[in-house]
Amino acid sequence: MEIKTVNNYRELSEKAAAIVAGELNRRPDSVLGLATGSTPEGMYAQLVKMYNKKEIDFNDVVTFNLDEYAGLSPEHPQSYHFYMYSNFFDHINIKPGNIHIPYCGDQDLDLACKEYDQKIKDAGGINLQILGLGVNGHIGFNEPCEYLYTDTHLVDLTAETIEANSRFFSSREEVPRQAVTMGVASIMHAEKILLMAAGENKARAVQLMCCGRITTSLPASLLQLHRNIVLIVDREAAALL
Ligand code: F6R
Repeated sequence: MEIKTVNNYRELSEKAAAIVAGELNRRPDSVLGLATGSTPEGMYAQLVKMYNKKEIDFNDVVTFNLDEYAGLSPEHPQSYHFYMYSNFFDHINIKPGNIHIPYCGDQDLDLACKEYDQKIKDAGGINLQILGLGVNGHIGFNEPCEYLYTDTHLVDLTAETIEANSRFFSSREEVPRQAVTMGVASIMHAEKILLMAAGENKARAVQLMCCGRITTSLPASLLQLHRNIVLIVDREAAALL
């Protein structure tokens, strides 16, 4: 695991965007795995700036998002669909057909999950996977549990995640209790992983992820087994390393 410690969130976002840009310039038809949440917002803003300056191009890029809440329509302002379009896709030249986000609508969910994994395989797998880190050590919405799922699946969110994400909703009660997430196989099969963590509330999870035992009770610890992972942390998140 290569660890890059930066001074602040701006530097974290710039460094992360530079890594994504490097990947796109090397391979214009890259398959990107994308995360939502507070952490990558600055990176997306930076990538949009680079696109506007014609430093990068998304014409041939394919994306797969990690997760989506169950029970929120794509138009809901807190859905990850809404987040991705408003923060990123609406501002770049990606082809709509190349965007993939799990969706928990009325369709057969098992089938939809299988189709999602098949689409990732058909695209040749993920070249660069962007990850954030849950305060409880989740990646995607693979929550601490006795066991982990390899494939895309429906998950019950833990009380910690519901609490952490309640900051985006007007009350804790409004936070969906379930989500669809990519499983750990698609993440671990990515050629390269870029994980970002910022803020002191991530310090313990960062410490356990990097230096603790590999355990399903901290899903990010599995990343110790990945051969090509870059971790960008600000000083607060790196405090216990
Ligand atoms: C979001 C995702 C989650 C977040 C994590 C950290 O797509 O997969 O694992 O990355 O919950 O969220 P923030 O960045 O809001 O602290």
